Parts: sequence; structure tokens; C-alpha cells
Amino acid sequence: PQGETFMGTADTNFAQMGTADEFLQAIVRVKLQLGHSYFLPHCSRERTLDSVNPSDPKESIGRVGLADISSVQKAMDCAQEAQKIWGSTPIAIRVNLLQQIADTLQMQRSEWVAWMVLEVGKPIREADAEVSEAIDFCRYYSEMAEGLHPGYTYDVLGETNRYVYQPKGIGVVIAPWNYPLAISVGMITAGLVTGNCVLYKPAEQSAVIGCKISELISNLISDLGLPQGVFQGLPGWGEEIGPELVRHPAVHFITFTGSRQVGCQIYAQAAQMSPGQRHLKRVVAEMGGKNAIIVDASADLDQAVQGVVQSAFGYAGQKCSACARVIVLAAIYEPFLERLRTATQSLTIGCATDPATTIGPVIDATAQERLQKNITLAKQRLTVALESAAPTSGYFVGPVIFTDVPPDDPLAQEELFGPVLAVLRVADFDQALQVANGTDYALTGGLYSRTPSHIHRAMQEYICGNLYINRGITGALVGRQPFGGFRCSGVGSKAGGPDYLLQFVEPKVVTENI
Ligand code: SER
Repeated sequence: PQGETFMGTADTNFAQMGTADEFLQAIVRVKLQLGHSYFLPHCSRERTLDSVNPSDPKESIGRVGLADISSVQKAMDCAQEAQKIWGSTPIAIRVNLLQQIADTLQMQRSEWVAWMVLEVGKPIREADAEVSEAIDFCRYYSEMAEGLHPGYTYDVLGETNRYVYQPKGIGVVIAPWNYPLAISVGMITAGLVTGNCVLYKPAEQSAVIGCKISELISNLISDLGLPQGVFQGLPGWGEEIGPELVRHPAVHFITFTGSRQVGCQIYAQAAQMSPGQRHLKRVVAEMGGKNAIIVDASADLDQAVQGVVQSAFGYAGQKCSACARVIVLAAIYEPFLERLRTATQSLTIGCATDPATTIGPVIDATAQERLQKNITLAKQRLTVALESAAPTSGYFVGPVIFTDVPPDDPLAQEELFGPVLAVLRVADFDQALQVANGTDYALTGGLYSRTPSHIHRAMQEYICGNLYINRGITGALVGRQPFGGFRCSGVGSKAGGPDYLLQFVEPKVVTENI
């Protein structure tokens, strides 16, 4: 079926004079607000977590009061009351809420960019694109919800048949730190616009942004005269409140983006019936990847090198869509590797606040140590093609490229979520596809080739959720490249796609004999 292509929000044009200054000024303004405390309803004022700037961990972003098990129960009670109202609130009001969220984000674009630059070390341009993505999720899901609302009519003489979509019930959103704004807003608004009350647990590492999103949405809900239980932010330690949120009998669905390990735990926990529960829960989980790009013998190498570098090292490789393996045909292996090395050397590693930075820090000390340990271990078995130096002042890890990595080596199988790239040599295109498909994951995949038969085969045989041909493999656009994978990369249909909202509704058919 043909769909109309959704026209997304434009990113900022940084080529325009003075634009970068506008963002630098926003960073200065936001810096004046650092170190504040955030206490959302039901959260503790005594037990808190401190969020720091990964480019400069001495700098506190803010202190956040934590939710515990009793907070979850209180929030759940409020949500159960509010569900009765929100579930029957007219679609126009629900859509209006999303439009107001989108408009507010657009108005406050530079501030949101600044918060992301400072709290999660995202370089300015990438943070700007993330604001656009968050706005797009609001607008796209509004359109989709309006499209679902009429349902279907299957009337015949003497009988009406109405197929309608009802809200499922209370949903829990468990969000990641790597897209603290866009993925949070996308998962939350999809649940809300379909008439479900939402409890939102932001990631610990981006808890301040999580509180700011919560304040924004809660304020708009209160301005509409709706109960606060429609949407509630619950920052807390995942191990402590995550299982409580997932297992609660009032919860109907869990929308999660994060690691494979946690996603699998949630899937298992959600399958257990709790006392008082009268329904089965749905889990929508977006997890990891070990995504490959195949560089064919006929590839345009300039294009391929640029796409691989950007896909592997953009946001320091901390995207589930990132390229972690590049599978190169033997015929062009040496020239490709040489150019890859040169292009990677030209990246600028530094503080995310600096407009010249192309690679910022990794998220925290734990990630830095985990990456350094894995790099050290890999060096004992593999050949390093490049290891870039990184500043020592923050949680930086310079890009590392390993060459001639065997397809079954852990470096070619296990997700590392950092700026570490495995280059694999293959004899021919058959072997390239076999190696690309040879992991537990199926999220993104890429091919650089000018051989039509190979492009055609990749379309058929490449096992992945999002296949990109002759371009980078990150940065899916809402409504244009609906995003998501299968195998151990996730369960559920694609975010920013036409089927996404169907996961949060219960279809009902009413037949009347007339
Ligand atoms: N949607 C992002 C991308 O496509 C990853 O979460 O890069």
C-alpha cells in the first residue's frame, strides 16, 4: 500500500551565520541552572542520585529525588483513577496534548540541545537532530491516532458491525539515556495518544532530562484540567523499581528501550501473572544490535568510508543502530582499511560543548571501564589498525579499529556500545551476507555496492530490521524509516511506523442486530 511520506521537522541549519552562537548561548544559560534538585511527586527528598556531565564529571547537572517501591504503588493508584478519565477523553484533546508538547519542544529547542550536550555528552548537531525527532514522534503519532480513531464499519442490511480501538490500560515506559529526549517522548506519547495512562522511568544517567520531560508533560496535562495520574515520571534505580513497575497487576504494557539483558528480563517478568491480574501484558522492547555494513568490491569507497565512520563513531558508537562490524570484500580490503584509518584519525574528540567536536565522551565511568577492559582483552587476540588518543579529563574513549577480526570472535558477536569497530575480511559477496547474518541480532544493516544483483540479493537476504543501501545506517527518520529490529534486537513493531500505535490498543467489535 502507498502511504504519504510524513514531512518531518527541519533540523537547524548550522551553515547559517550565528546559528552555532545561539546554541552556545543556550549552553551558557543552562549552565546557570546546573546543580538544582528535582523532586517529582511520590519521589523521596532524602534518597537522591547525582547526575554529572560526562565531558567533565566534576560538573553536577542536578540532583534527583528517587522513586522507591512505595512511590510505584502510589503512582499506580493515581494512574488507576486517572485511567477512567483519560481512556474516555476525546481524541482531539489527546492529540492536542501531543501538539502542545511538540510546539513547546520547538520553542525551547536550543535549551533542550544544551541539556543533552551537558547531561549525556551528545555533540550539538546530533542533539539538535534529536529535538527534531522528538517533535516528529509527537506529530506523527497524532496523525496515526487520528487515523485509527474511526476504526472500521462492516455494515450489512439489518446489522451494523463497528470495529473500534480502545485503550489497553496503564503502560510503563522504561527509557534509555542515549536518546534521552526523542526515545522517551516517542514511547510516552504513543501510549498517551492511544488513551493509556503512562508511568515513565527515565534512565539514571539522564535523570535530569527525564525530570524536565516529566515537568513539561505534567504541566500541560494540568493546564488541560486533567488529573496528574495521566502521566507520571518516576526516576529511580532500575534494579529497584523496574521489576515492581513491570510486575504490577494494573500494568497492561511495557515499552522499553535499552540493553538486551534488561529487555529479556522484562519480557520474562511481564509474562508472570500477579495476584489480581486479569490480563496478559504486552512488551515492546527495542534492544541491541551488532550491526554490519558490507563494503562490496564495486563500492564507491569515498562514500563507504564516510558512511562507516559516521555510523560507527557518531555519538561515540552509543546508538543501537551503530555500525560495529564492517565486512569488506578481499579485493578492496587494503585500500578501504587505509582510507578508513585516515578518516577516523581526522575526527575531533572532545567536550560535547565544543562545536568542533565530532566524538564526545561515553556516558559514564562504568561504560568507560567496560570499553577499556574489552579493548585490552581484544588486543591480546586481534590486530589493532587504529587506536586514537582521547582526552583524560572526562569519560572519553578514542575510536579503536580492529582488523581481520574472525566472524566468531566476541568482538564480532557481542554488543559493546562504544567507539570500537571490527573490520572483517571476506572472499566474496556470498560470504559477506553469511557473515552479516551470523549474529544473534537483526537491527540495522548496510551495503555499499554498485552491483545491481548484489543490491537485489541484499534486499532479499540481509537479516535486519532496517537495511540501508549506499548510505550510513543510523539516524532513521520518523515516518520515513520506521525503526526497529527482530531476533534478539527487539520485539514489537517499528517506532515511528504505521503499526506502532496498534500495540497500545485493544480492538473491539460491536455488532447490532437492527
Ligand atoms: N533511531 C536511532 C537511529 O536510527 C537509533 O535509536 O539511529
